Order: sequence, then C-alpha cells, then structure tokens
Amino acid sequence: MRHSPLTSRLSGFGTSVFAEMTALATRHGAVNLGQGYPDFDGPAFVKRAAAAAVRAGHNQYAPMPGLPALQQAVADHQGRFYGLGHEPAEEVTVHAGATEALCAALAALLDPGDEAVVLEPFYDAYLPGIALAQATPRVVPLAGPDLRLDASALESAVTPKTRLLVLNSPLNPAGRVFSREELAAAAEVCVRHDLVAVTDEVYEHVVFEEAHVPLATLPGMRERTVTISSAGKTFGLTGWKVGWSVAPPPLAAAIRAVHQFVTFAVATPFQHAAAAALAAPDRYYARLRSDYRARRDRLCEGLAEIGFGVRPPEGTYFALADVRPLGHGDGEAFCRTLVERVGVAAIPVSAFTTDGRLRHLVRFAFCKDDATLEEALRRLRRLKG
Ligand SMILES: Cc1ncc(COP(=O)(O)O)c(C=O)c1O
Repeated sequence: MRHSPLTSRLSGFGTSVFAEMTALATRHGAVNLGQGYPDFDGPAFVKRAAAAAVRAGHNQYAPMPGLPALQQAVADHQGRFYGLGHEPAEEVTVHAGATEALCAALAALLDPGDEAVVLEPFYDAYLPGIALAQATPRVVPLAGPDLRLDASALESAVTPKTRLLVLNSPLNPAGRVFSREELAAAAEVCVRHDLVAVTDEVYEHVVFEEAHVPLATLPGMRERTVTISSAGKTFGLTGWKVGWSVAPPPLAAAIRAVHQFVTFAVATPFQHAAAAALAAPDRYYARLRSDYRARRDRLCEGLAEIGFGVRPPEGTYFALADVRPLGHGDGEAFCRTLVERVGVAAIPVSAFTTDGRLRHLVRFAFCKDDATLEEALRRLRRLKG
C-alpha cells in the first residue's frame, strides 16, 4: 500500500519518544509521570451534568458550530475572566478538543507555501498541523535558562511569507506563563507584519504566579487572534475532548469551513456538561489553582532535594528538571535509564524541539494524585545512591 508523502511526513513527527516511554513504562511497571493527563477523576458536578444530558435525550447531532448553550458559556467565560466581549453565535466554535481546533485553524488560515512562526520548545501538535496545511514552520527558540520570549529573534523569523504566529501560554512543556511584556512584544510583531495569532490557552486556569493574560486582550490583537482552549485541563476530563476556538467572524467562518468536514459536530451531552462546567463558581477555579500549586510544590521540592536542577513552573501541570547536576548530559538516555532502573517515566524535553535542543531537561507531569507523586519521589530517591 502506497503512503502519500504527507502521511510519511506526519508519521515522522516526534510521537516516537512518547510511544517508546509509554511502552517502557508499561513493561517496567513504572509510575508514569510522562503522560500529561490526570490519574484522578473530574468533578462530580460536571459528570452529573453529562449524565443528566444523556438521560434528558440530548443524544442527536449538535449544531455544527457548537451547542448554543456552550457557545454562550464560552463567551461568558471570556468576559468574566478577561473582560473580552464576544458574539457567541458568530465567534465561538466548538471543536473535538483543542487539538482539532488547532488543526482546523492552521488548515483554514495557512496556504501551501506560507510560513508560521512557532516558539520552541513546542507542544507536539503544531508542526504536524502546519505540515497538514502544506506550510512551513519557522521555529524560534525561547531564550536563556529561563526560556523567555526573545522579541528580536521573533522579529527576525518573520519573512514576507509569514502568515501567522502560534503562541502557547501557559506553555507545555516549559511551564512558562508569558509576562505582559513578552506578550506585548509578540503582539507588536503580529500587528507590524499583519500576522494572525493562533493561541493555545488550554492551561489558562493552571497558573501559580501571575494571572494568565490572553494575547487577544492586547492592543490590536482581538481582531487578529484565534484563541483556543478546552475543557480537558480545566475540568480534569481530558477524555471528553471538548474544546473551542474564539475568533473574529471572518476567521471563525474559515475555521468552520474546515471543522464542518473534519468533525462536523462534537458529542452533544458533553457540550451540555462543558457549558455547566464553565459556569462553575470562582471557588472552583481558585481550588483548581491551589490544588495544582500544592502538587507542583511537592514534586519540585522533592526533585530539588534529590539533586535535580528545578525551576518551578509558573503554569501548566509540568515541571522541567535539569539532569546535569545528577551527572547526566542527555535527557533521552536519562529517561530510559530512569524507567528501567528506578521505575519512573518522564519525557525528555528534546522531544519538543526540532534539533534536539534542551537535551539536559526532562519533563515530569504532576497532574497525579498524592499517592502517585509520593511513590514517584520514593523511587526517585534511589538516584541519590
Ligand atoms: C499545550 C496543549 N495544547 C493542546 C492540548 C490538547 O488538548 P485537547 O485534549 O483539548 O485536544 C494539550 C494536551 O496535552 C496541550 O498540552
């Protein structure tokens, strides 16, 4: 059977390390801090809302752009947390997770031969999405040990073919939440070069220091930004795959033209439940942050005590650890040894780069219950000899 050149390219994107680590973790009965999803269940009130929707007979296709109640809930959420006003029917589209939203946005907004700027290290869906659109990525590494956005590097990556910037904040895997100054620099580049920004904000509520600032709130950005998020991270229900994009009407119309033939409509009962979830009181969102902050602190303190170099993340549920203080230079080799000898799985950060940069860093996920984190740290202490 002949594969198209596109599928060959897609299968070359770095899922191999993730698959290898998962297979190794299973074989060695490892505590898996590689996988980026919770090992605890989502909130009961959201699950009850999904069950109630099924029982009430909301089991046929939802409208293609999304259930009006969820479109409204997303618009209300953007107003409540960020002061953004959006017209739900025209600007909010419901997708099968942020992944489909990203892919639909990239396919809709890039033509073959266009360029898209991506900051590195990057979440692994961006380059395949750009390849599906037959466009070319221009990768801009984040700078220095703190992985900061370097405005001049961003500026010099822009060429006459550049159409858009993909920006992920809070950033998986780096745990960065871009500051207002970094976002202002990115916004300036977008406005000056007339770029569209596609922002991945799935960890918008998993932030520990400063509040998350959507790029769309910066001057000149609302009309050129596609804001993407998902219920998966905020409600600990990654398997439901309910995400959304918020974009000005011309961009939303282009995105819907793709979404219609990729997914058509997202599971109706889960859309009802996501609408109920987003309307959660402030204390739900505050508790989410404080629970994750406690998990972050437990893991980072434990890793530092074992001897890793650790910079606690500002957001997301991932912590990066430098393996050099433990006498290792290569995160990929370290992760293999870690699974086999210690029984803990992590992901080398080089898997989130194009050229194996950041080889000294590994990513640990802390979206795990207390017992899992304690057991992982107990095993990791064996590294101390
Ligand atoms: C940065 C980032 N974007 C998008 C996604 C995927 O989101 P969804 O499950 O809603 O497709 C993930 C999941 O790990 C992620 O880390």
